[in-house]
Amino acid sequence: MLGCGTVGAQVVRLLTEQADDLTARIGGSVELVGVAVRRPHRHPDVPAHLITTDAAALVESDVDVVVEVIGGIEPARTLLTTALRAGKSVVTANKALLAEHAAELFAAAGSSGADLYFEAAVAGAIPLLRPLRESLAGDRINRVMGIVNGTTNYILSAMDSSGAGYAETLDEASRLGYAEADPTADVDGYDAASKAAILASIAFHTRVTAADVYREGITSVTPADIAAARTLGRTIKLLAICERVDTDGVESVAVRVHPAMIPRSHPLAGVGGAFNAVFVEADAAGSLMFYGQGAGGAPTASAVLGDLVAVSRNRLVGGRGPGESAYAALPIRPISQVDTRYHVSLDVADRAGVLSSVASVFAEHDVSIAAVRQRGRANDASLVIVTHSAPDRALRSTVDKIAGLPAVHDVVSVMRVEGEEP
Ligand SMILES: NC(=O)c1ccc[n+]([C@@H]2O[C@H](COP(=O)([O-])OP(=O)(O)OC[C@H]3O[C@@H](n4cnc5c(N)ncnc54)[C@H](OP(=O)(O)O)[C@@H]3O)[C@@H](O)[C@H]2O)c1
Repeated sequence: MLGCGTVGAQVVRLLTEQADDLTARIGGSVELVGVAVRRPHRHPDVPAHLITTDAAALVESDVDVVVEVIGGIEPARTLLTTALRAGKSVVTANKALLAEHAAELFAAAGSSGADLYFEAAVAGAIPLLRPLRESLAGDRINRVMGIVNGTTNYILSAMDSSGAGYAETLDEASRLGYAEADPTADVDGYDAASKAAILASIAFHTRVTAADVYREGITSVTPADIAAARTLGRTIKLLAICERVDTDGVESVAVRVHPAMIPRSHPLAGVGGAFNAVFVEADAAGSLMFYGQGAGGAPTASAVLGDLVAVSRNRLVGGRGPGESAYAALPIRPISQVDTRYHVSLDVADRAGVLSSVASVFAEHDVSIAAVRQRGRANDASLVIVTHSAPDRALRSTVDKIAGLPAVHDVVSVMRVEGEEP
């Protein structure tokens, strides 16, 4: 084992407590022969003879399987490519590494016939990658959309129920242990983007890296956005959306992470707190939803152990699980060309002709309006517009131009809209 922190300690615990059951399920025993950490004194529960600070030596020793729960790119990347090239099966929870270097890792695994499993890298305990890689391998997946980051989901859920601002809610989340001391990877959407890249790669048999994912975090979500969503019977969630796009018979893949308004009746709207949920739409299977605990030591360890059992079984029968499937090699579609829908909430002057001046900007950009709500308020008025689908670039240009209209005092909220057409 490489690493013994939040996840690793739980893997060690379960591996020890369930040793007999695991042996029976695998058909052979699994023996923990070493645990590499940085600071040995921090691990009094692990037998001292198993602890080492020399991860490289442990990987090069006579082991069959390497479980990596260190996180980050290095040294994990070097350690795992070394292990895979030497024919050692790898189980990892490392989303950042998989989202950037999957091709290299799969090539190393392929060169020796070793297994590379990483169920825990996306959505913690939820069985999701194996269903995509194996159960749905005979189907055609068109869309994967979900909530894959518990910290941001906790913050947005709390903002929705309290009406409080982002900064205040983040502070509370940190106090309660739902946000890391440095929350950047979560709140800026990097964590969700890594997971989206992994999901899209598997779903569409195409190499997608984190850099291919359009990413917006939740730091700009305001109480005004939340209130605007509420008025429309919607709530705001940070969504990871992976889509197969067909433009006149030419297919591409669009992958994005951003906050979006979804109807309160949508199944994802009910996913509160630190839970994760992912929708998969496939040709033959129809819609599937996967739901559960997306993080935490024990839930993530459950996924790691499931992989450990799988790779151990494979070793015993002399086989291996699926390798990389990137044969489709679909091009990545930039966000500017992806069709989305916008909700735009404006403070406008309360005078005749304002609505038509705003509407004409939408028309100029070929964006059709699905719903408008106008409300007078003494000297001020508000105008809320929800659009039909249009290329993101057209929607952005429309909002930029509207912001400059003399009758528009303020653009109060701009948010993408997902879920059924309004
Ligand atoms: N936490 C979750 O809920 C969760 C959920 C899903 C996936 N994951 C993924 O699981 C992985 C581990 O996350 P975590 O939360 O368990 O991390 P963590 O609590 O920070 O633990 C990291 C462990 O790695 C060890 N380590 C760090 N650098 C090392 C090095 N150079 N050599 C050997 N050991 C080293 C640390 O040793 P010391 O303890 O001695 O410092 C620590 O035991 C990450 O890839 C993460 O993305 C985590």
